[in-house]
Amino acid sequence: MNWNRKDEQPSVREALKPFGTTIFTEMTALSNRVGAINLSQGFPDFEGPEEVRQAAADAIMRGPNQYCPSMGIAPLREAVAEKMKRFYGVSVDADSEVTVTAGASEAIGAALLGLVEPGDEVILLEPTYDLYPPMVAMAGATPVYVPLQPPGFTLPREALQKAFTPRTKAIIINNPLNPTGKVFTEEELAFIGELCRQSHAIAIGDEVYEHLVYDGKSHTTLLQIPAFRNRAIVISSTAKTFSLTGWKVGYGVACQKLTEAVRMSHQFITFCTPSALQEAMAQAISMDDAYYQEFLERYTKKRHLLCRALEKMGFDVLWPEGTYYASIDISDLEFEDDLAFCRHLAAEVGVAAIPASFFWHQRRAGRNIVRFCFCKRDETLNRAIERLARWKSRGLVQSDAPR
Ligand SMILES: Cc1ncc(COP(=O)(O)O)c(C=O)c1O
Repeated sequence: MNWNRKDEQPSVREALKPFGTTIFTEMTALSNRVGAINLSQGFPDFEGPEEVRQAAADAIMRGPNQYCPSMGIAPLREAVAEKMKRFYGVSVDADSEVTVTAGASEAIGAALLGLVEPGDEVILLEPTYDLYPPMVAMAGATPVYVPLQPPGFTLPREALQKAFTPRTKAIIINNPLNPTGKVFTEEELAFIGELCRQSHAIAIGDEVYEHLVYDGKSHTTLLQIPAFRNRAIVISSTAKTFSLTGWKVGYGVACQKLTEAVRMSHQFITFCTPSALQEAMAQAISMDDAYYQEFLERYTKKRHLLCRALEKMGFDVLWPEGTYYASIDISDLEFEDDLAFCRHLAAEVGVAAIPASFFWHQRRAGRNIVRFCFCKRDETLNRAIERLARWKSRGLVQSDAPR
């Protein structure tokens, strides 16, 4: 052992080298630097429910504030199990089928690290949330990309069937889908379930926007699909539903065998999630139906406010079926790509958005899509709308644009 060896500088491991800083960090930093209205990264500019924040504060003052059980405190696991029954009619055992994690992000990581072997393949439907490819790479597996078919981002059944090989270990299904807001139909999910059954593969369902499905449609969790009951890990988060993204309280729900794998890796990643926040979130999840209805109504109005305004300005708008993101098609505008558009928009117009191409591994597939989040106060949305409308009406979209 040579403790003093100085000739080799440690650097990022090979698996992570293809991935830079996330586009969310980049756009939020740019937005802060130029003083733009930040409609890029998906976090609210308002606080979550007061009673939930008060419950966390009380729990911190009352204590104990020590490590809690790795799998999560019983009241939160029970609240999650009750929620699965209340919203989806799915019976879940709180002791052996629910694991509390540091946000949905950690649950996705724990699921992959707990289940996937080096050399396995993991199917990612594109557009794909930016966390999945590096997480698959860190697990030593190979991502296999299957692009959904625009304009409706429907499931390409033949291509998906071909993507399943004897090496397929898992598929990640983000439903509702960030960034385009697609909501998978029950039939599409059942089709994927059948492919998983035939290939002995599992599904990881990222359902963090489960309570934001519009136009009278409802969310189908993977665990409602019979083929998935014993081969899916459903992951969700309290971040979006309770407007407390910074708390990072998430969870995974799966049959006992899959849960054992998630817990096995989770204990070695974070071991446990802050107990006071878990206590407060147990109360939050158990809030009555009126909370969830009001939450959806509020976002339905925000979706309408932003999408209608963008349409009135002449943009081609993709109204989301779910999530809190609206997208525009910029193919008619004279910008090199979505990144150039977003940089210009933040610096010159004062509105930050996300270039959606970062959700595809071959970025050109998404280079004409720009995503705005509408999880903001109405006054924030209105100020952004004013800036965009002024810019658009001056015709600067054409003349100002770097080519
Ligand atoms: C699709 C998707 N999955 C997971 C997350 C992260 O959830 P959490 O903050 O609970 O880790 C986000 C956050 O934007 C998301 O959009």
